[in-house]
Amino acid sequence: MNGPFDERLRKVEADGLFRRLRLLDSAQGPTARLDGAEVILFSSNDYLGLCAHPKVTAAAVECVQRYGWGAGAARLLAGSMAPHMELERQMAQFLGKEAALLFNTGYAVNTGVLAAMMGRGDLIFADKLAHASIIDGARQSGAKLVRFAHNDPDSLEKLLAKAPARGRRLVVTEGVFSMDGDIPPLKRIADIARRHGAMLMVDDAHGFGLFGPQGRGTIHMAGIADEVDIHVVTLGKAMGGFGGVVAASRRFIDGLINFCRPFIYSTAIPPAAPAAALAALNIIRGQEGDKLRGKLFKNADMAVSLLREAGLAVDSKTQIVPVVVGESKEASRLAAKLLEGGVYAPAIRPPTVPRGTARLRLSITSGHTEADIKKLGTLLA
Ligand SMILES: Cc1ncc(COP(=O)(O)O)c(C=O)c1O
Repeated sequence: MNGPFDERLRKVEADGLFRRLRLLDSAQGPTARLDGAEVILFSSNDYLGLCAHPKVTAAAVECVQRYGWGAGAARLLAGSMAPHMELERQMAQFLGKEAALLFNTGYAVNTGVLAAMMGRGDLIFADKLAHASIIDGARQSGAKLVRFAHNDPDSLEKLLAKAPARGRRLVVTEGVFSMDGDIPPLKRIADIARRHGAMLMVDDAHGFGLFGPQGRGTIHMAGIADEVDIHVVTLGKAMGGFGGVVAASRRFIDGLINFCRPFIYSTAIPPAAPAAALAALNIIRGQEGDKLRGKLFKNADMAVSLLREAGLAVDSKTQIVPVVVGESKEASRLAAKLLEGGVYAPAIRPPTVPRGTARLRLSITSGHTEADIKKLGTLLA
């Protein structure tokens, strides 16, 4: 008898879409040891190099020594440890919301929050390129999922205008799109959501720590923070750690504590994660954060200029620079060629991105040197 995956595996193999894991035997830095070779890494979301920052790792170690490694149980069951509570207090304050709640991942925030707050008869309007966790949460919720054209407020407005008047409405988008590196017209989206009686949720996984004053995120940069009802960030990217946070009104967070299944029924994230996140937050909102962001965006600008000089049609105003190739096999071939030259930039293929838009997703960090970026440009040219 065939195994449950055999047929699908044969298909992804034939289509050049088979995925396998690579051994990473070092910290996630601008350079790393991948499959036994020293490479320059253009794949990590540790945009500010905080994953191995001495202050961040020291906070994690200290916390393990004081609180132990595990959280023991779910927070409603075993008690809620001080690092979790303190991170939530500081994140709420930093993001300008009444309250915040820490989850085990950003994925769990999106699926859990959407499934808890929306239900049958409700409508969720999500950008066509929204992250898998948003789509999965919308599906779990039982609400009708409506997709508007990518970063297109007119498309959103048309769909809202013709939607039935009953049920709750929620518009969901991202602050920086994870595979395209573009920022939506947040102000227009917020205006449209308000005009049509919809709540607004923004997943700023790739914008938090980088954009807006002190790295508060794209919704602060766009001046719409007060219009966003639900602000989602992850600790796994610019924060260099692990976990997800949702910031909203006190009443909304109380609702999640009472009704959100991934929060209620899962062992809490180890306390070292919020302890390390508190140290990372301190860096992000301070002068060192400003410096790291300055370096990051200088690097990102340099990468875009060099790739354009090399004849590639790239365009990005963020740290995520996609080089769209088209066919999956061609993207994989190009990624393999780069790796031979000592540069790792992952090929991103369907279903992560739409068919025919396979790409190399370059993730620029503050730690890359000019020489690293020049090497990337030369190899791609
Ligand atoms: C836009 C977006 N939202 C949510 C997530 C999930 O966050 P986490 O990695 O913390 O689960 C990701 C990460 O891949 C993402 O890119």
